[in-house]
Amino acid sequence: MSAPVLTGLSAELDDLSVWPASTARLPGGNLSVGGVSLTDVAERFDTPAYVLDEGEVRARCRTYRAVFPDADVLYAAKAFLSRAMVRWIDEEGLGLDACSAGELELAVTAGFPAARIVLHGNAKSPGDIETALRLGVGRIVVDSPSEIARLAAQVGSGGRQKVMVRVVPGVSAGGHEKIRTGTDGQKFGLSLTDGSAQHAIARVLGQPQLELTGLHCHIGSQITDVKPYLVAVRRMVGLMARIKESHGVTFPELDMGGGHGVAYRAGESALDLTALARRLNGELSASCAAAGLPVPRLVIEPGRAVAAPAGVAVYRVLAVKPTGSTMFVAVDGGMSDNPRPALYGARYAPRLIGRSATAEPVATTVVGRHCEAGDILAADVLLPGDVRPGDLLAVPVSGAYQLSMASDYNLVGRPPVVAVHDGSARLLVRRETQEDFRRRDIGA
Ligand code: LLP
Repeated sequence: MSAPVLTGLSAELDDLSVWPASTARLPGGNLSVGGVSLTDVAERFDTPAYVLDEGEVRARCRTYRAVFPDADVLYAAKAFLSRAMVRWIDEEGLGLDACSAGELELAVTAGFPAARIVLHGNAKSPGDIETALRLGVGRIVVDSPSEIARLAAQVGSGGRQKVMVRVVPGVSAGGHEKIRTGTDGQKFGLSLTDGSAQHAIARVLGQPQLELTGLHCHIGSQITDVKPYLVAVRRMVGLMARIKESHGVTFPELDMGGGHGVAYRAGESALDLTALARRLNGELSASCAAAGLPVPRLVIEPGRAVAAPAGVAVYRVLAVKPTGSTMFVAVDGGMSDNPRPALYGARYAPRLIGRSATAEPVATTVVGRHCEAGDILAADVLLPGDVRPGDLLAVPVSGAYQLSMASDYNLVGRPPVVAVHDGSARLLVRRETQEDFRRRDIGA
């Protein structure tokens, strides 16, 4: 069906550029994703619900493989993990970045090869490490001096575990202060500037149970500019050169982390992956040549850029409240399934689906149902002026760091995840129920 001709504000409301590539307009103001009508999803699985476009996830993995053919691409599981996701990532030839025993167990029991998993964490518990060693993870990333001896002891005298060391290269980047991890003064990694990275590397090299395969850095998240990665890679190579001088060792790999930014609203920019690949590889080769080092294999760890644009959250409007200054549109989810606006001031673009709206767009604030005034999903967004209870709202770019950060606040229950692909929908993760709450609460 061809799109109606729209102008001005209505055209802005109708922009599908940040939606999954499979998104199509259906009659009656409805949309389909992965060939499945979103109103059908709402009817069959109830709301709120998260829709995940399998084809979009797979296409994004393939883009990474095509753009970085010589790199190891690890999907950062913290963005969103489920057994189906694990299978797709495996089938598309990516590795996995995990940061807890929970993520490791889920991935490996779903069939993911442990050797292609890297374990991160600034505070790994003995259980995390025990699980990683038992399952045989490929790499463990050392994040603090205190874990080196402990890790070596857990590996035991006969064993040998491949590890990397997380370095803070002193590069500030990222969409929000809380997700900038490239400079000193935050909890992750070992500083390049004060010498703690060099010190930790020396200690790791002194442990026969640990095999140091390379250095790691992750400078931040939701980064839309290539330059910080180039500065970081130069500094990492500089450190590798110093390690070669002082210890005579060179490393076969260099992990530059994730952080690749996406557009949440039409018109926003995303990180250009082709430019990143070309310039990062170029900088890596040039810096290594200048330092007389062999070029290590590049490792990258995108989470958001694989999962976020493949997800759509579907809510039902429960209440509409015009006030003097603001028109509040309250939906049946909120900060318990998406804490990102409250945490990082993230901006989303909800869209009315399921009926053709003729009313002029008005500025509204879409809020959740939780007992907190900060429970805002999208402030100051345009919706048709006749938006009313019973309407459905869909929020694109909802596949990362929403459900994985969801809570049981107000015992509302976490929404299900519905996979859509080739015209069919199937439940991946079921809705959390009253029964789930009763079962966990075993006190008298
Ligand atoms: N590697 C490491 C070591 C990480 O810590 C992270 C994310 C990634 C890779 C993947 O980063 P990505 O490509 O997804 O940006 N909750 C925040 C994001 C926190 C990111 C934490 N680490 C948000 O919702 O924006």
